[in-house]
Amino acid sequence: MNYFVTGITGTVVPIIIEELIKKDADPFFYFAIRRGKKDTDIHARFEAVIHSLDLSASRIELLAKRSKTVEIDVEKDSMGIDPSMYRELIQNVDKILHGAADVRFDQPYENIKISNVDFTRKMYDLFDEIKEKRRASGQSPATLYYISTGYAYGIYKKPIPEDYPDFNPGKPDNTYAQTKAEAKMFLLEKIRRFSDRIVIFEPTIIGGAAGTGRTRAYNLHYVIMMLGYLGKLPFLTAPDNRPDIVPVDWVAAVISDIMAKDAFHQGTLRLSMGSRGATIRYMHDLGYHYYTANDPVPGHVIPRIRFVPRWLFLSMIQIQKAWYTSLYFTTGMRRYRKIIKGIQLLEGYFPYITGHKVFENEKSTALIEKYTDCGPAPALHEIRDDAGNIVERGYFRKILADTLETGWGGMIDFERLKKHETLAKNPKKVAGMMRK
Ligand SMILES: NC(=O)c1ccc[n+]([C@@H]2O[C@H](COP(=O)([O-])OP(=O)(O)OC[C@H]3O[C@@H](n4cnc5c(N)ncnc54)[C@H](OP(=O)(O)O)[C@@H]3O)[C@@H](O)[C@H]2O)c1
Repeated sequence: MNYFVTGITGTVVPIIIEELIKKDADPFFYFAIRRGKKDTDIHARFEAVIHSLDLSASRIELLAKRSKTVEIDVEKDSMGIDPSMYRELIQNVDKILHGAADVRFDQPYENIKISNVDFTRKMYDLFDEIKEKRRASGQSPATLYYISTGYAYGIYKKPIPEDYPDFNPGKPDNTYAQTKAEAKMFLLEKIRRFSDRIVIFEPTIIGGAAGTGRTRAYNLHYVIMMLGYLGKLPFLTAPDNRPDIVPVDWVAAVISDIMAKDAFHQGTLRLSMGSRGATIRYMHDLGYHYYTANDPVPGHVIPRIRFVPRWLFLSMIQIQKAWYTSLYFTTGMRRYRKIIKGIQLLEGYFPYITGHKVFENEKSTALIEKYTDCGPAPALHEIRDDAGNIVERGYFRKILADTLETGWGGMIDFERLKKHETLAKNPKKVAGMMRK
């Protein structure tokens, strides 16, 4: 099969490709990549990705041989793709995986719409041309696989239904959810009008791999865990909430199976835990014990987080934000601006952490069972055996181990923290150092 893939420089798509290359005996990939922030050449970006994959040297070599990079700029006509390459894509591509998106929660609508809505429309235009060409030449139909998100449903008081072919989202939590909902709506309309072969995946929160604990991105719950470790999150709320976190290796296994087996061509597949997620209290308690027992920084004390009612927690955050905003306006110090930005980032996470969302997944679970070799998503935590006893089967310890091994992907420098702890605990040494 020949694939056109977006999002290869991200967190999730590389893991899908790791799986897909093992499942398709004769793959060829076109990878759509934009220039990097510092105008980095797309080949250099691609090289960096393939050498970071968890694949044998021979598979990496195979992938390099069986790939072409395609430079894109979604703000231009035909996504800025060179016309001869655009024709080649129409000629050769069997399947499109559109996994690229701007996943930030604090972007202005007009800005994030480009990556999440306009990009999807342009990918559909390409798909439409591929579809027509294949129809005219009597080839099997092409399929477009699109990665949406369960959070496109926005604010929902009741469990979030699997309502395909309908889609009735609530008020969006942020512009990310809003634009992902718009893109999904657009594709559903194409299915309704043209019966296109479009598969929409709806993962919830994608976390580290259940097999290894590893992740390529340390955001959302990882940031909360890091703040807890550093003692910068004295309060939290909603201990009984069950954030819907699914492991990236399971998500990749399901998506790559659906693509490689080529039997499910139309509809939505929700990739969620349903009601089986671990509670925030469980994650806190296990995290606290794990970090305390395995802390690489001697003498570093990890305070326990106190759980408070949601209204109190949200008010404390607002008061803090107002306080630092006034400090920033009176002093103009950039330090306060940074703190305000940090608080705003946390606020973006609240719908995922403090909001109560349950994603129904019965229909999708049955489809996953029918069309893939995967079972239900592995849970972060213990599950009960047939006798009702709690059994240690979860993979949360692997996730915790990975955060300490990597320092949250380099966000924490334990050596610096060690020095900081030593100085804080030893005023004489500080005085000595100051004298020198
Ligand atoms: N991570 C999750 O928890 C989660 C949960 C549910 C659904 N999803 C969905 O899964 C997909 C992958 O998410 P992710 O976590 O892997 O995101 P990510 O790590 O932020 O990666 C996003 C990818 O999209 C590319 N991209 C974004 N805007 C682009 C543009 N305008 N032009 C070209 N490329 C663009 C990025 O390229 P650059 O490297 O050039 O920026 C990057 O390759 C997304 O559709 C997301 O909505 C993710």
